[in-house]
Amino acid sequence: MEDKKCATFFAMLIILFASNSYLRLIQCQLMPIVSDNQVKTFIVFVEEPVGGANLVNDEELTNFHRSFLPNNSLDSGEERMIYSYRHAISGFAALLTADEALAMETKPGFLFARLPEEVRAETTYTPEFMGLSIGGGLWWSSQYGEGIIIGVIDNGITPTHPSFQSFNAVPAPPVNWFGNCSFGPNVCNNKLIGAMAFQNGKNPSPLDDTGHGTHCASIAAGSPVYDAGVLGQARGTAGGIAPRAHISAYKVLYRNLGSDDDMLAGIDQAIRDGVNVLSMSLVSGPKHFLDSGIAVSSFYAITQGIVPCAAAGNSGPTASVISNDAPWILTVGASNTDRRIKVTVMLGNGMEIDGESAYQPDTHNATDLELVLPGSDPDCLSVDAADVKGKIVLCEVSPFSLLIGRIVKDAEGEGMIIMNDVKHGFTTSSDPHVLPAAHVSHVDAQKLKAYVQTTRNPTASIVFKGTQFGASPTPSVAYFSGRGPSQYNGGIIKPDIIAPGVNILAAWPVEVGPNPTGNTTSTFNFMSGTSMATPHVSGIVADLKKNHPDWSPAMIKSAIMTTALTEDLDGNPIADDAFSHQPASYFAMGAGHVNPERANDPGLVYDTQPLDYIPYLCGMYSTPTVKSIVRQQGIDCSIIQSITAAELNYPSIGLRMPIAKGSAIVITRTVTNVGPAELYDLQIKKMPDGVDIRSDKKNLSFSALNETQSFRLQFTSNGTAQSGQVSEGYLILNSTTHVVRSPISITYY
Ligand SMILES: *[C@@H]1O[C@H](CO)[C@@H](O)[C@H](O)[C@H]1NC(C)=O
Ligand SMILES: *[C@@H]1O[C@H](CO)[C@@H](O)[C@H](O)[C@H]1NC(C)=O
Ligand SMILES: *[C@@H]1O[C@H](CO)[C@@H](O)[C@H](O)[C@H]1NC(C)=O
Ligand SMILES: *[C@@H]1O[C@H](CO)[C@@H](O)[C@H](O)[C@H]1NC(C)=O
Ligand SMILES: *[C@@H]1O[C@H](CO)[C@@H](O)[C@H](O)[C@H]1NC(C)=O
Ligand SMILES: *[C@@H]1O[C@H](CO)[C@@H](O)[C@H](O)[C@H]1NC(C)=O
Ligand SMILES: *[C@@H]1O[C@H](CO)[C@@H](O)[C@H](O)[C@H]1NC(C)=O
Ligand SMILES: *[C@@H]1O[C@H](CO)[C@@H](O)[C@H](O)[C@H]1NC(C)=O
Repeated sequence: MEDKKCATFFAMLIILFASNSYLRLIQCQLMPIVSDNQVKTFIVFVEEPVGGANLVNDEELTNFHRSFLPNNSLDSGEERMIYSYRHAISGFAALLTADEALAMETKPGFLFARLPEEVRAETTYTPEFMGLSIGGGLWWSSQYGEGIIIGVIDNGITPTHPSFQSFNAVPAPPVNWFGNCSFGPNVCNNKLIGAMAFQNGKNPSPLDDTGHGTHCASIAAGSPVYDAGVLGQARGTAGGIAPRAHISAYKVLYRNLGSDDDMLAGIDQAIRDGVNVLSMSLVSGPKHFLDSGIAVSSFYAITQGIVPCAAAGNSGPTASVISNDAPWILTVGASNTDRRIKVTVMLGNGMEIDGESAYQPDTHNATDLELVLPGSDPDCLSVDAADVKGKIVLCEVSPFSLLIGRIVKDAEGEGMIIMNDVKHGFTTSSDPHVLPAAHVSHVDAQKLKAYVQTTRNPTASIVFKGTQFGASPTPSVAYFSGRGPSQYNGGIIKPDIIAPGVNILAAWPVEVGPNPTGNTTSTFNFMSGTSMATPHVSGIVADLKKNHPDWSPAMIKSAIMTTALTEDLDGNPIADDAFSHQPASYFAMGAGHVNPERANDPGLVYDTQPLDYIPYLCGMYSTPTVKSIVRQQGIDCSIIQSITAAELNYPSIGLRMPIAKGSAIVITRTVTNVGPAELYDLQIKKMPDGVDIRSDKKNLSFSALNETQSFRLQFTSNGTAQSGQVSEGYLILNSTTHVVRSPISITYY
């Protein structure tokens, strides 16, 4: 759809300008402003300056970038240059009219220009849930991620929160750390080693204005806080996944919204400062790589050994609305854990229905009250006291559940039940409501509605059960978790991995619930989203990086993917909350659920060097676009033998396959030994429907560390698949001590 729109625009453009070279400059989103003389911010990509080493000083680099501008300032006297980027991209952000941007086209070294894209945030028990334990395993061997620096690109941070106070086991930042703490003196410490904000070329306060950045940073690397909880629920020690790692916060969102020219400035600073991991719980929707600041800057990050972790987005369960899907990014989806802050709704007919809410007053009397549907407004955004006073009201789920609780309470309702629709399925939230409430699944919502509609005097009471573990199935894919297949990456399975992202307890700037005292000394909240899943993985990456400093970002990703769990705690395939708990597809869960202990010892890894992406990118884009991403002199796609996405040495295999019987595709994979000398058997454990897969090797024998071995896989259609059919299978390489698993997804055409 979107592609078609672009194609039409391109065709129009060719007529307008009679020059197809404009295709490089004009993006779809620029079309409506072609003849517009308004000054706007443009992000401009230019070739890496020849002998870039000469531009070591920032002023020289900025002057080089200024040479692309008509002049340095607007008529108003305002500086045109907003950001001169060194690391995030080769290029700059500047104030230009569309005509002035078009005029840059003739300057040697110009590659591409576009308007900024909007970026947004999507909004302690999880370490144990993932199998990390104190005093052993990965935490022990990695010293809890000691000394690794996680750059959190987000909505800022609450520096006074106990999660960001240092404790004696956190070392001083590395000697070559030059990150800036713009909160001023004596605010940052060995835990929070940097904080800086970027907005329109200025550096305002990096203070978190929503809680999102605070929450995400504390998940990745918060210091342990004893007796944390929300309204008395989920009590325990809250701490990050890499509790001895450092945090540097880069505020690029303002009330959870931002523009990717500011985001690129934050990422530029993070790379300059020397972070080891980029934790990016922000999205801009499905995009071509060059239109995604995260995709382009992450490419540079991997060339520096920095691991980019980013959220898949919260647009599930709709297929193909996935963000941050470039193959060099570690793309994270969200899972549900087995913890519930349980509330039971007891119906007048004896039926019991379980839901969730963080607000669980112990003074509450569970009395039978009339159970009603609201008047005209099913989601209860406007309710009448006449309808709800003294009653428990059934409201449809909406993004405003917390607000609706207040509305119902103001209308003197006694209780509220939030009912999921089909899409929300089995994912419920333990929100800090202001009145007795229960958030229930779609299946249970149907039962409640049937009861109310078929009973003369329907009644219910709400009974609080507190924090309970053991919910099943667990883990499952959260309904909202962004899903593939990606429209833009050529068929690579995304997300790569899922991690806990539902009702995650972590640091919060303010007290929540019905009666906040204003004491913000130590406050926590539950949040759900792929935003919360991402810093779990960023923390795990920090732990792994500490243990394996010589692993490339692709090796770390491979270790995490090939060791992922694909079964839930009951031994069934991981289920999907949005589809009646049916087994989740690879486009929902990627390689599976992150399993940090096994990721620490994967046996073999699939490595990919940054330059290996060039033939893949040349298969999708023109030379200037590839140069804008890869930033190498002399790339010429017309003389490079391109490859498909399936031919990248990726830890999963996503293949597009003709249906016709006998059609064959051959791909090669190369594994690197990071374990002991061992013999591995290669087995297609599950053959996808409609195809036969043959490997040229039955086994691979490794005698040394770092040794690589390749194998070829031939896929042959047997003519039974339907067009558009997706078939899943997987292969393993197994030794006596390791299993290296790769999911295989075939889409037939
Ligand atoms: C800069 O260039 C613009 C457009 O080319 C022009 O209108 C403006 O007068 C110039 N400003 C200065 C200070 O020369
Ligand atoms: C760091 O922040 C301070 C205060 O905001 C500022 O004066 C200084 O120039 C900054 N340093 C760098 C390297 O950005
Ligand atoms: C609970 O019920 C008891 C006895 O009916 C009553 O005395 C008490 O005030 C009630 N408490 C609340 C919080 O409504
Ligand atoms: C504020 O909260 C902290 C942590 O929960 C607690 O130690 C402290 O006593 C509280 N202060 C007040 C004034 O309630
Ligand atoms: C084709 O493959 C499917 C599933 O993999 C299998 O059930 C079927 O028997 C095969 N058909 C032929 C003609 O080989
Ligand atoms: C490895 O596979 C080859 C066939 O590819 C076979 O001849 C050989 O016996 C196998 N080795 C072991 C140790 O299984
Ligand atoms: C393995 O490779 C890494 C770099 O990729 C290197 O640092 C390390 O020394 C190598 N180890 C051996 C035993 O060759
Ligand atoms: C791989 O697993 C199979 C069982 O599925 C086992 O028979 C075989 O010995 C294993 N291969 C190696 C090399 O340990």
